[in-house]
Amino acid sequence: MATEPVNIFEYEELARERIEQGHYDFIAGGATDEITIRRTRAVFDSIMLRPRMMVDVADRDLSSTVLGQQISLPLMMDPAGNHSSAHPDAELATARAAGAAGTLMVLSSHASRTLEDVAEVATGPLWFQQYFFKDRGLTLEMAARAEEAGYSAICMTLDAKIKPKRERNIRNDYVGGESPNYAQIELGEHTWKFAADAPAGPSDIRDQGSVWSDLEWFASSIRLPVVVKGIMAGEDGRLSAENGAKGVIVSNHGGRYLDTTPATIEVLPEVVRAVNGNSEVYLDGGIRRGTDIFKAMALGANAVLMGRPLFWGLAVDGENGVKGVIELLRDELDATMGMCGCPTVESISDAMIDTVSPLLSSFPAPPEFR
Ligand SMILES: Cc1cc2nc3c(=O)[nH]c(=O)nc-3n(C[C@H](O)[C@H](O)[C@H](O)COP(=O)(O)O)c2cc1C
Repeated sequence: MATEPVNIFEYEELARERIEQGHYDFIAGGATDEITIRRTRAVFDSIMLRPRMMVDVADRDLSSTVLGQQISLPLMMDPAGNHSSAHPDAELATARAAGAAGTLMVLSSHASRTLEDVAEVATGPLWFQQYFFKDRGLTLEMAARAEEAGYSAICMTLDAKIKPKRERNIRNDYVGGESPNYAQIELGEHTWKFAADAPAGPSDIRDQGSVWSDLEWFASSIRLPVVVKGIMAGEDGRLSAENGAKGVIVSNHGGRYLDTTPATIEVLPEVVRAVNGNSEVYLDGGIRRGTDIFKAMALGANAVLMGRPLFWGLAVDGENGVKGVIELLRDELDATMGMCGCPTVESISDAMIDTVSPLLSSFPAPPEFR
């Protein structure tokens, strides 16, 4: 009997036994009825593949580039706060694992470790994730700190202006950790907590009034490229690129903010079409199988990111656990590419997608009907 988890779902089962209940619910859960969480997975499962035979797949190359930086597979680490809830080495372990696997990590500004400490141990490329704060000085200052520490892009999360209703957290009276990234900045009374009922929660310092011209201002005020996260409509993909974003992450925030939004894979084709090559497009949400990565690439993503599996890997075995999760998905993607007749990520196309979910309304007709 194999003792190691053989898939991401088994990592989660093991992690659930090891992570304290309140933390587990915070990580696994989402907003209100968690319909979006389930749908995000279900639509991946509903998309069928259309493999091609007699293609030379003896040498397969999974490497790709994002904003000009090479990654060994098109899978990156999503920004997610408070990795210490799963392992004491927290984001240091995740960064080491990402570097060892030859891929990129996006560090959350709500990390359990400072952005400088993470940069010091990282061996792979790093992006830094933050928000538009009411204090525009703070908005620029955080980005400048990240640039100084060696991060190569700033990821602006756009879908987290409003405090979500997460019922598991309310039931558990959940209070998460504070981030030293915020403590280091002169915030007066605005210390940041995960508490469902914290009086000075993150939305107090985030700017609910931010609009597209603020993105244009931000992108033209900093030297690093800007990637936006939380795009769920073609129009917003186009507006992101028009206002200076070099990358767009199609994301429903893992179903953690607004419930009953579609699966990200349903929205991907419309965003790819609207962006029209003017920025790179990535996808996150529900990536649990190599076939999920393949399907996102087939529908036009440059790469994908994963969030919750990082916590499952951390809880199972720290840095090694995160490496395990990445390598498992690499093996699954490699096999999928081989069996579909795709020796490189560039050769993955929408011709490899067969019976398409009726939910994917904006996907073009199958190849024989085009
Ligand atoms: C525990 C946890 C904390 C998160 N914290 C952040 C965050 O600080 N900033 C952010 O932009 N997204 C955050 N996210 C969302 C992830 O970046 C990502 O969009 C989502 O987890 C993707 O879905 P997946 O978990 O199904 O892979 C968080 C997600 C989780 C599970």
